[in-house]
Parts: sequence; C-alpha cells; structure tokens
Amino acid sequence: METKEGIKGQDATGAVCDYLCKMFSLAGKKAVVTGGSGVLGTDMACAMARAGANVVLWASREDPLQASTERIKKETGRTDGIEYHKVDLMNEDGMLAAIDAAGDFQILLNACGGGRGKSPLIEQDMENFRFVMKLNVEAGCFLPMKVVAKRWIEKKIPGCIINIASMSSYVPLSGVWAYNAAKAAVKNLTEGAAKEFAPYGIRVNAIAPGFFLGEQNRRLLTNEDGSLTDRGKAVIAHTPFGRFGQAHELMGAVLYLCANEAAGFVTGITIPVDGGYLVQNI
Ligand SMILES: NC(=O)c1ccc[n+]([C@@H]2O[C@H](COP(=O)([O-])OP(=O)(O)OC[C@H]3O[C@@H](n4cnc5c(N)ncnc54)[C@H](O)[C@@H]3O)[C@@H](O)[C@H]2O)c1
Repeated sequence: METKEGIKGQDATGAVCDYLCKMFSLAGKKAVVTGGSGVLGTDMACAMARAGANVVLWASREDPLQASTERIKKETGRTDGIEYHKVDLMNEDGMLAAIDAAGDFQILLNACGGGRGKSPLIEQDMENFRFVMKLNVEAGCFLPMKVVAKRWIEKKIPGCIINIASMSSYVPLSGVWAYNAAKAAVKNLTEGAAKEFAPYGIRVNAIAPGFFLGEQNRRLLTNEDGSLTDRGKAVIAHTPFGRFGQAHELMGAVLYLCANEAAGFVTGITIPVDGGYLVQNI
C-alpha cells in the first residue's frame, strides 16, 4: 500500500523483490562453469542456478561432476537445466566439442585451477612449474576465453566472462612460484581481454578470492586433524577478519558481475573477496 512514507507491508516486500529480481535475475541465461566440480566452482554454479540460470559444469573427472550436479539439483530443487560435460581443459579440441554440446550460453565462469605444493625457488621442480602454469593460465583462463569469445563474436552473443584470480595476483605467496605467476597472468589477461572484447559487448572480469578451504589448498593450510598448519596460521594472522572465507561469501560478487542490469558498464576489473587480506597496515 502506498502511503506518505512510501510503499508499505506486503507491497513493499513485493516491490523490493521485483527490483532485485530485475537487477540480478539470471533467468533465461545459461552459464558454463569450468572446474565446476571443484569446491568453489560447484558453489558458484549453484548460486547462478539459484538466480535462475541453467548451468553446465565442465571438469575432467566424471564422479565429482556427477556429485556436484546432484548437489546443485538438490539445493535448488531443480530437475532440469543442470548438466555436466567431462572435458580436459588443457585440450583445445576437447573444449570445442564441449562448446558444441553446451549449445548457446551467455556466461563463462572459469573456476578451473589450483596449485601443487610449495618449495624454495632454487628447488622448484620444473615439471610441476609448467603444469601449474598450464593449469591456471591456459586451462583455467586463456583457452576457454579464446574459444568461447570466438564463438560469441561469430554469433553476436554479448556474453560475460568471469575469471578466478587470487591474492597472489597482487602479492606473491611464499613458495608457490608458478601459482603466483599464473594468477598474476589471470588478472592481466582479464584486463587485456576486456579491452579487446568490449566492442562486441563481451564483458570480462575476475574475482580474487582470499583464502577459502578447497581441495588444492587444504593440505597447505590445515593438518589431518583440522588444526592450522604454520602457513594456515600465517594466513589467518594476515587476514583482518581473522578467518578463512566461506564459499557463500563469494556469491554476491559472482551474481553482480553476471548481471548485465547491475554491472553492464563494468569490465576489466578484479574484485577481491578477501576479508581484508590485501589491506597492508599497522
Ligand atoms: N580455494 C581458495 O582459497 C582459492 C583462493 C583463490 C583462488 N582460488 C582459485 O579458485 C579456483 C577454484 O578453486 P577450488 O578451491 O574450487 O579448487 P578445486 O581444486 O576444488 O577445483 C578445481 C577444479 O578444476 C578441475 N580441473 C582441474 N584440472 C582440470 C583439467 N585439466 N580439465 C578440466 N578440469 C580440471 C577439477 O576437476 C575441479 O573441478 C582455482 O582457480 C583456484 O586457484 C581458490
């Protein structure tokens, strides 16, 4: 009901919901989430599905893909529009086949990536170094951007790409040489691609999560019994909020960047979601 103070009660709730829905709804959109069976990828795909998007999870192993698809269906109560495709993202031909199978989609979220141990620079195993570079720069960012944007440009689809950067895109973490270099590259590639694709209406942005426990970093940050390793303690000590992030705390950034109505003029940025980790102060 409209009063002198504005809209009240049930009508106010309805008006707020209508406004937020218009701003952030992903109904009618389809999103591909690479690394969609990972800890963060699954949760981000779930957030997009809850906002109305159909989602296709891409990752290299069948069982985790199946488990993540089932989890998203259960959490959203949806029976359709949640699919997966097994694909090795290190392989361009495999990715092209996955794109054909996905049909038209408007959102690409690149959540494939990760690290592999840590070591002093002079002891770095070069096979590991090349693997982590390839996983994060090629499979986790460049190759999907290349093949998907090519398709979008041909089909005149003004899509939205979200890459996943890291705290190490800004400041190196000790001992993870390739991961640092790779994630700095992800931020850089995001900016370069944003400029190149802007004339086609394709937006390219990134999210830089602080520290969230995932498969790739759990062993670096926590011991078998769940207590913190020295590195885990150092991370917490360096994070003004004094804790790791919870996956749901990334979802506002995901939905914001996906939503053309909310972020239609936003491209080339990287949003840190880090509990203040990047704030260097005394
Ligand atoms: N967890 C964190 O604290 C954190 C912080 C900053 C950035 N990140 C980044 O976020 C992203 C997701 O992290 P996560 O913690 O969910 O990782 P995760 O290890 O849980 O998931 C990684 C995903 O990538 C997939 N993958 C790996 N190699 C692949 C390949 N060759 N082809 C296809 N799929 C492949 C895996 O199957 C899995 O689905 C990564 O880029 C990671 O570097 C994570």
